[in-house]
Order: sequence, then structure tokens, then C-alpha cells
Amino acid sequence: MTNPAERALYLQIVDSLMAKIEAGELAPGDKVSSERDLSKQLQVSRMTVRHAMSALYVRGLLHREQGRGTFITEPKLEELTNTLFSFTESMLRKGITPGARLLRLQRIPATRSVSGELHVPLGQDVYYVNRLRLANQEPMVIEHSFFPATLFPGLDKYDLEMQSIYRILESEYSVCLAQASQSYEPTMANEEESDLLKIPLGAPLMLVRRTAFDKQGRPVEHAKDLYRGDRSRFVSRMIFRG
Ligand code: GLP
Repeated sequence: MTNPAERALYLQIVDSLMAKIEAGELAPGDKVSSERDLSKQLQVSRMTVRHAMSALYVRGLLHREQGRGTFITEPKLEELTNTLFSFTESMLRKGITPGARLLRLQRIPATRSVSGELHVPLGQDVYYVNRLRLANQEPMVIEHSFFPATLFPGLDKYDLEMQSIYRILESEYSVCLAQASQSYEPTMANEEESDLLKIPLGAPLMLVRRTAFDKQGRPVEHAKDLYRGDRSRFVSRMIFRG
């Protein structure tokens, strides 16, 4: 956009829509007027409106629904990365109802990477728990978690859709989680992931790898979780050490 007047208008539209969202005049789920209506209301070209809307899509404030129009997006879920929470705990603290759909629950021999992370001999049994996690019924995360079978015999008999695994580890096996190391790596949704998370094929995901340790320093879980990129934000607090 080269014309400065046009650019100023475009910024005004972006600012005024953002101000309305922040003030709550436009709430999550509200439908936004069409490009044609907005250009009439604001008396600017459709091109200018289109540029403004694109900026809001990129910032994740608006999203399109095929055949239905453009809507204000729900605020992203903020995950604090310097506190060790279970999914259940993290959702409850935000006033969100957590949910889980069990996709796979298997006792399998540890692969090289899982055996390395969990310090179990290669080929020794681990439980593989694969769940789709929901926030207020909306699919948010695909979890692939591995637990040493020797530490948690019979883990597969629990209802892992209705109960928090971390609570089960604590109440049934007296294992208290103490710390974890975590890494973050952007990736893209494959076909199965896009179906489960109801996002387009190739949409951005954040792969979060976690190894969690108990109070004795034993690794008790290794997880590879895929968070929806359009719905998640990871927040950490830092101390200046300059
Ligand atoms: C988070 C962690 C997972 C962990 C899960 C336990 O999602 N990233 O590694 O398995 O919480 O959640 P819950 O205790 O709610 O079952």
C-alpha cells in the first residue's frame, strides 16, 4: 500500500476494531460485518477494508468460517511455562472446563527416545497414553504421553477421560511431580491431527516435549503434546541477569 492516506485509513480501521474488541463491544464469537458493508459504513475502499481485516486475521483476532462469515476469535489460551501444571489444573485455574478423549492406551516396549528420556531399558514396557484434550469442549491439544510400566503397574485400568493422570499418579502411586524440562518446536498439522483438532491440514502447531520428574528426581513421564497454534500462547516470566 503506497498511498499514505489509504495507509492511515487502514491503520485507523485496525485500531478501531482492536479497541472495540478490547472494550468488549465486540465479543468472542460475534460476527463482523462483511467487507462490502464495512466499506460502505466507513466510506473507504473495499481494498482498504480487506487490508485491515488481513492484519486482524494475522494477529489471530478474527477468523473466517466457510460460508458463514468472519468472527471475533476467542482469546488464546495462555500457558505459563515456568510452573508445572497438569492440563486439568491449568484449565481449572482459567475457569475453563477440561476434557479428554482417549485415543490410544497401550502397553508397549520403550523406543530408543522414550527409553532415553525415562531411563528405562530399551524395549522395557511403558504405558502409551494418547488423548485429545478439550477446553470447554473445544479440541486444543493432542497428548502422546509415556509412563514407565514398572512405576505405574495397572495405569491402564483407570478412567483417563474423566480423571487427571497427574492426580492418579499422586493418589494411587504416591508419586509427586516436582519438576520438568520442556522444549517448544513449531510444526504443522498432518491429516489425523487436523481432523482431531478441527483445523486445516498444515495449520501451525506447537510441539511441546516434556519430561517430568518426581521428588526423588526420577523421570516419570515423557510427553509429546501438540498445541493448536491458533489458540495457544506460551508465557514465561524472566529475571534480568545482565
Ligand atoms: C499436560 C502435560 C502432559 C500431561 C498432562 C496431564 O497436558 N503437558 O504431559 O500428561 O498435562 O494432564 P491431566 O493430569 O489433566 O490428565
